[in-house]
Amino acid sequence: MSRKTPGEWLLSQNSNFSRNGVSCPTQRPCKTIAVSSGKGGVGKTSVAIKLSKLLVERGEKVLLIDCDYNLSNTAVKLGFPLESKFYDLLQSKIEFDEAIHKDGNFHLLSACNGNVDLFEKDLGLENLIIDIISAHNEDYDSIILDCPAGLTKEVCTLSGYCDYRFVVITPDKSSITDSYSLIKVLGQRFGVREHHLIFNKISNEKQYERLTKTFLETASLYLDCRLNVLGAIPFFRQNVDLFDRELLKVAGSKIHNSFNNVIDRFTEENIGTSANSFPIFQRGLDSGLGQKQDVQSL
Ligand SMILES: Nc1ncnc2c1ncn2[C@@H]1O[C@H](COP(=O)(O)OP(=O)(O)OP(=O)(O)O)[C@@H](O)[C@H]1O
Ligand SMILES: [Mg+2]
Repeated sequence: MSRKTPGEWLLSQNSNFSRNGVSCPTQRPCKTIAVSSGKGGVGKTSVAIKLSKLLVERGEKVLLIDCDYNLSNTAVKLGFPLESKFYDLLQSKIEFDEAIHKDGNFHLLSACNGNVDLFEKDLGLENLIIDIISAHNEDYDSIILDCPAGLTKEVCTLSGYCDYRFVVITPDKSSITDSYSLIKVLGQRFGVREHHLIFNKISNEKQYERLTKTFLETASLYLDCRLNVLGAIPFFRQNVDLFDRELLKVAGSKIHNSFNNVIDRFTEENIGTSANSFPIFQRGLDSGLGQKQDVQSL
């Protein structure tokens, strides 16, 4: 292992970081997106799954990597077999191709669930994921990382390595605080200063406006970073199993339309400005289709 600090190592791994701390989208054809949040249970896995599926619907070939190595949830949410081959891949017993579950152009590298051997080893798994991305980025249009909760070196390294970081935020104060902390550490420790925000479990448009305003105002005061708001996903009030089923529906629901809007926004050019002057745009939550409108210019 190199003696570099995590920050130095990260910068040395990714030639696309400029030294002034602004990360730039890479030239490589495959875009890599880390979905993270700091706080647990805010919807990272749901967002990562739905975005992956929608990108496939739009004609992309997508690899979703479950980076929650020992509390993997992607396969169970997708209704895929739970026999993860991640640990075998880790031990080089099988090839990458044997380790992934394929559903057309959607490929999943699932991870383990309570593997005791994995738990006891400190394997620097973020390096393995980065190796996988480097080895396979030419095979995919997008590689999406479903990151675990927490503000760890692992999450920061993966987030920093990716071209884009989608930070999922819910209206509760702890989620706002934790995502702020994640963005702060990524900026100050890793020189990563651009993020895309997805507000999840939103009850109404007013709440969304209040949340984006509070978050962006605070960020503009204390963080030197560029934040792009991708939109809101409504809070689905029925039971949890129904949400998971709703998430996998191919069309028609409010949830589906909201995610489509998020991707539309992401693919639009010049979607944001620096956190010091940030016009925020949103699409109507209720229509799910909505038209572009200025919510505020601070
Ligand atoms: N918009 C939503 N409306 C209602 N329920 C939601 C919504 N988004 C996610 N959930 C539910 O919230 C729970 C947490 O979601 P998910 O597993 O995607 O979060 P996570 O951030 O990946 O969690 P973890 O930190 O444990 O990995 C799940 O039960 C999921 O069904
Ligand atoms: Mg998760």
